[in-house]
Amino acid sequence: MSASARPCLDREISSKKLNQMETNIPDPQTQIAQVEAAVEVIRKITQLRPRAGLILGTGLGQLTEEIKVTHRIPYESIPHFPVSTVKSHRGEFLFGTLKGVQVACMKGRVHLYEGYSARQVTFPVRVMANLGIDSLLVSNACGCMNPDYQRGDVMLLSDHINLQGVNPLVGPNVDEWGPRFPDMSEPYDPNLRQYAMQVAQAHSIQLHEGVYVSVLGPSLETRAEYKFLRTIGADVVGMSTTPEVTVARHMNLRVMAVSVITDECFPESLQPLTLEHVIAAAGLAEPKLSAIMAGVVEKLGHE
Ligand code: HPA
Repeated sequence: MSASARPCLDREISSKKLNQMETNIPDPQTQIAQVEAAVEVIRKITQLRPRAGLILGTGLGQLTEEIKVTHRIPYESIPHFPVSTVKSHRGEFLFGTLKGVQVACMKGRVHLYEGYSARQVTFPVRVMANLGIDSLLVSNACGCMNPDYQRGDVMLLSDHINLQGVNPLVGPNVDEWGPRFPDMSEPYDPNLRQYAMQVAQAHSIQLHEGVYVSVLGPSLETRAEYKFLRTIGADVVGMSTTPEVTVARHMNLRVMAVSVITDECFPESLQPLTLEHVIAAAGLAEPKLSAIMAGVVEKLGHE
C-alpha cells in the first residue's frame, strides 16, 4: 500500500481518544460545582473548620481513636464522593479535634485499581482544601525494596516517583485551584518533615526517610519489577498517595506522608503476599504511625 493510500489510522484513533478523554472530564465550572456541592453537604452537618486533613491507609485506622470526633460522615452521603470498595477500608469522614487541633480525617480512601479515575480518587482532597485545611498528612501501606528496611518499619516520604501512568491534573486546568504546571521540586514540606523527625526522636521511633514509588496495582510486583523499582531510586512501593499529593500541591497545601512497611520486596527472598499479611503488619506499625501523625498535628497547633 502506498503511503497516500494508507488510511491515517493513527491520527484518527488518537483524535478520537482525545475527544473521549475531553468529554469524560467535567469542565472546570462543573468540577468546581461538584466540590462546592460536597462542601455544602458537609457544612450543613458540621461547622468545624479543619486545619489539617488526614488520610489513613490500609489497616491504619487506629489513629481515629485519638480524635475527639464530633461528626462522622459516611462517604456515601457526600455528593460525588468516591466510595471505597475494599473490605479493609472503612469509608467515612471524621471531623473533630486531635491534640487540640481541628482535623478532617479520611478513614479509608479509594485507589485507582478499584476503577476510579485519578480525578475521582483526589476529589476528597479538593473538598478538604475547600473546607480550609492548609496541611495534608497522608499514610499508606507499602512494600520495601531498600534492604535496610524491614516489615513493621515506618518511612517518611522525602520524595516520590509516579509510575501509575496517570495524573489527576490531566484535562482542562481549573485555574481557581492552581497552576497548569504545578512545581514538584519539593512535594513534601521540609518543616512538616522536620516535625515528624522530632516527634519520632522524642518517642524513640526509628523513622526512615526515603522515596516512594506508586504503581497502579492491584497485582503485586514481580521480582524483576522490584529490582527495577530499586534501580530507579525507590525505597518503597505502594498503590496510592501520589495522586492525592499531586492534587494537594496543585492547591498549594503543605504535605507530609508516612509509609508503613508491610512486606519485604527483596527479589532473592520474595515470599507470596496476602492482604491478611499486609493488615497484620500494618497493625504492628500502627502505634508508631499514630504517634508521629498525632505529634505532627500537635506541633501544627503550636505554629
Ligand atoms: N507493592 C505494591 N503495593 C503494596 C505492596 C507491594 O509490595 N505492599 C503493600 N502495598
